[in-house]
Amino acid sequence: MLQQKLPIRTLVFLGLCQFGQRGLASAPELRDQPKKIAIVGAGIGGTAAAYFLRQEFGASVKIDIFETGTVGGRLATENIAGAEYETGGAIIHPLNLHMKHFVDKLGLNPRKDVPSKMAIFDGKELMFEESDWFIVNILRLLWRYGFNFLRMYMWVEGILDKFMRIYQYQQFGYAFSSVDRLLHAMGGDAFLTLANQTLEEAMMGEGFSQSFLNDIVAPVTRVNYGQSVRINGFVGAVSLAGADSGLWAVDGGNKRVCSGLLYHSKAELIQARVTAIAIKHRSSKSGNSVNLYEVNYSSQSGSAHSLYDIVIVATPLHQGLSDIAFVGFSPLVPSHFPGRYHQTVATLVHGLLNVSYLGSGADPAHFLYSDILTTDHKWLDIQSLSSLDPVSIPPGYVRSPASQPGVWKVFSPRPLTQEQLSAIFASWDVVSERRWLAYPAYSPPHRGTPPFELHEHLYYLNAMEWAASAMEMSAISARNLALLAHHRWHGQAPKVDQEDLHTRLRGEL
Ligand SMILES: Cc1cc2nc3c(=O)[nH]c(=O)nc-3n(C[C@H](O)[C@H](O)[C@H](O)COP(=O)(O)OP(=O)(O)OC[C@H]3O[C@@H](n4cnc5c(N)ncnc54)[C@H](O)[C@@H]3O)c2cc1C
Ligand SMILES: *[C@@H]1O[C@H](CO)[C@@H](O)[C@H](O)[C@H]1NC(C)=O
Ligand SMILES: *[C@@H]1O[C@H](CO)[C@@H](O)[C@H](O)[C@H]1NC(C)=O
Ligand SMILES: *[C@@H]1O[C@H](CO)[C@@H](O)[C@H](O)[C@H]1NC(C)=O
Repeated sequence: MLQQKLPIRTLVFLGLCQFGQRGLASAPELRDQPKKIAIVGAGIGGTAAAYFLRQEFGASVKIDIFETGTVGGRLATENIAGAEYETGGAIIHPLNLHMKHFVDKLGLNPRKDVPSKMAIFDGKELMFEESDWFIVNILRLLWRYGFNFLRMYMWVEGILDKFMRIYQYQQFGYAFSSVDRLLHAMGGDAFLTLANQTLEEAMMGEGFSQSFLNDIVAPVTRVNYGQSVRINGFVGAVSLAGADSGLWAVDGGNKRVCSGLLYHSKAELIQARVTAIAIKHRSSKSGNSVNLYEVNYSSQSGSAHSLYDIVIVATPLHQGLSDIAFVGFSPLVPSHFPGRYHQTVATLVHGLLNVSYLGSGADPAHFLYSDILTTDHKWLDIQSLSSLDPVSIPPGYVRSPASQPGVWKVFSPRPLTQEQLSAIFASWDVVSERRWLAYPAYSPPHRGTPPFELHEHLYYLNAMEWAASAMEMSAISARNLALLAHHRWHGQAPKVDQEDLHTRLRGEL
């Protein structure tokens, strides 16, 4: 038989492919397909939603995607001295499977790798310097922190293992109606607890030492989320996974994934700001009343509005970040789920670093640290300082030592003053500042995460950020909402919020 000749991996792969088509081929046609879907926001979340919605609902549905700023949102580049550099979301983990899939599917490439070296600055001196020699690093860390490092690696690995389950669930078409249910499906009650306590509590509970938390973990949460070890344990683990090896970025800029997904999904980009979303009741042919959403939007060419069957809000609803009025119902966000976004200012500087600022007596010609993390001290004005490589690495590129002018990125909670700039840099010729409301200010314990469903057929993608904010998290949320929207539309309850999927699906593979 043919089947016996096919290796098991191929069979699994073919099985998964067929499941990928499920929405189109075998969905019971309980009602007509939706005619029009609106997406608000063309960041990675909104564009990934367009991609997955097209997959679920097929070629005939019209998908409009509204964007008031630029496609890419928090994935953005800045031109400094003739080259482009990432100013927002920069790094991608090797196990971020949706991002990987997008890059493959869109014919993009990972950016060429440039070796990097890390150091940790405590406001006075470099308290840790990575060596070129792997064994030297290991010995230094063992000396100071015992087996904390190895244990951290194993702890994060254990969480990552469970995290990876989401890809299998999604491949089989399962969706979740809330962030908490999604977290629970991945890692059970342990994940819910992790997301509702601080990283500090979680790691102290696991027996990690306070000095390890202060010296090593805090610098990592500061560079990734601008916050201390009191962020929630789940986003903390995501952050620590971001200290793994094999991190990558998209050649030409991460935002290229967004424009690629937009094009691939054949969604129509409407350059306008959505001002209001209102419920309209219409009676259908069968005499039943159906809800439609009237989306009002304004652009340079004036205001307009349009009706949709399904709406996905793919932009934060906190702090007036999106400024959308809801009419005919009141969504619980942000009223019942208050919160704010943390400001991270990304300052890109083309200039000469003053290595004395770092308390280093090193000859700048031999100073080669590319990523300088910081400990959590009141007297430190910066979260991190990194030497940047352009989004496309030219042939023969090598990072220049600190004795030559280069492009540096400083993350800080507030804009840098001239005094602060002249303390860090001996000289500079270009400064470009971008103030982000970057990611939620995490302060567990919390009342709960915002809902995915704001109203019937109206979904909120960025609820996910309250577990953890990252490109991949937005992509996972996008796939979840495309599946959820599909199942809700066709009344396929058995595909939503199933318990114990992990054990049930184990037999399937
Ligand atoms: C400085 C910084 C560093 C980061 N580093 C990383 C990293 O290294 N790795 C990582 O994975 N993640 C990182 N992140 C997080 C990551 O960038 C975000 O989680 C992700 O990009 C969010 O994407 P999104 O599409 O959900 O939201 P957004 O990118 O914010 O997209 C929302 C879009 O909606 C638009 N919009 C808002 N209101 C309206 C309206 N009323 N009408 C129409 N359009 C509207 C906005 O203009 C925006 O383009 C970082 C973020 C920042 C700011
Ligand atoms: C949306 O636009 C229409 C047409 O201009 C207008 O009648 C309606 O009041 C607007 N709705 C909201 C909530 O602004
Ligand atoms: C570099 O920093 C040191 C110490 O902060 C300072 O004394 C020195 O003047 C700075 N050098 C330049 C060129 O700015
Ligand atoms: C988080 O924990 C607090 C107390 O520690 C509790 O009151 C709250 O209900 C929890 N939130 C969730 C969503 O479980």
